[in-house]
Amino acid sequence: MDKKVVFSGVQPSGGLTIGNYIGAIKNFVGLQEKYNCYYCIVDLHAITVPQIPKDLRKNTLEVLAIYLASGLDPEKCTLFIQSHVNAHAELTWVLNSISYMGQLNRMTQFKEKSKKSEENLNAALFTYPVLMASDILLYQTDFVPVGEDQKQHLELARDLAERFNNKYSETFKVPEPLIQEFGAKIMSLQEPENKMSKSDQNENGYILILDKPDAIRRKVKRAVTDSIGEVRYNDEQLGIKNLMNIYSVFSGDSIEEIENRYQGIGYGKFKEDVAEVVVQGLAPIQERYNDLMKNKDYLEKVYKEGSEKANYASMKTLRKVYKKVGFIQR
Ligand code: TYM
Repeated sequence: MDKKVVFSGVQPSGGLTIGNYIGAIKNFVGLQEKYNCYYCIVDLHAITVPQIPKDLRKNTLEVLAIYLASGLDPEKCTLFIQSHVNAHAELTWVLNSISYMGQLNRMTQFKEKSKKSEENLNAALFTYPVLMASDILLYQTDFVPVGEDQKQHLELARDLAERFNNKYSETFKVPEPLIQEFGAKIMSLQEPENKMSKSDQNENGYILILDKPDAIRRKVKRAVTDSIGEVRYNDEQLGIKNLMNIYSVFSGDSIEEIENRYQGIGYGKFKEDVAEVVVQGLAPIQERYNDLMKNKDYLEKVYKEGSEKANYASMKTLRKVYKKVGFIQR
């Protein structure tokens, strides 16, 4: 029996946050038991904003080591680097030819990012979601585990699959997003109405997967709360709600259990405990990460084997696409 296919990716743009971990990577781990999973490090996406080449190389290996340290097993899933698999860039070109400028212009992330980098508004930033659609569609993906912020890009991938299928006959599977009920959007610790993001100017807004225990304790302590003074889960108390989500994910305790535990107890003790579950939850990942980063040969073996498998699978789809659009066989 053929297993269903899962695809997802993370950008190597430096310093992954616990938002990336909770919204994406943590969920990748469970899926590898049941599905045929492809997890990519999307370096082609990363260059849509300026990168320092030597940092990009380091950050790419860092994401791979975090994947492995979080529990992804190269015996069970395919781990690879996007630029090692040519079909991603090639399919993007074909899908660009059926992508509407108007639709790309409406992508929220493009609008936000283009506001931030008006001087460097490059074409790749604009067609970024088309590259993401290519990533997904090349593997005949059934499910795409992502955080809430990628939902609109997933919609575009579905549209492009359907548009291509209608124009040239059935070629791509139309993928479904897998978005968790809890933790699909971890918010900034400083501005809990905004997403936690590694590009935040204020480093107190985010916790990195590789942050030291002291930094984690300090950031949680400084997290913005409110003057209500009760640990309750609701939209009037966004800061507290966010900390409860984080606590729940790292401890495995339900929101009700947390509410009950902290009834009548102030925010100080609650924050201390949040910091502790995060420190404890990240400690084994950080330990494995440090070991893995000392073993570059192993990392190389993993990404080389991964790209072989990904090349094989993606070329099957690309060959079909090239044939359907009318390219002469190589
Ligand atoms: P990226 O690198 O920004 O983020 C990687 C994953 O982390 C999730 N995420 C969050 N989840 C919850 N709370 C947050 N604060 C938070 N911040 C980030 C993201 O939703 C994402 O799942 N375009 C994608 C990478 C990509 C991709 C793909 C994903 C490229 N090709 C194909 C899926 C399938 C991106 O920039 O994610």
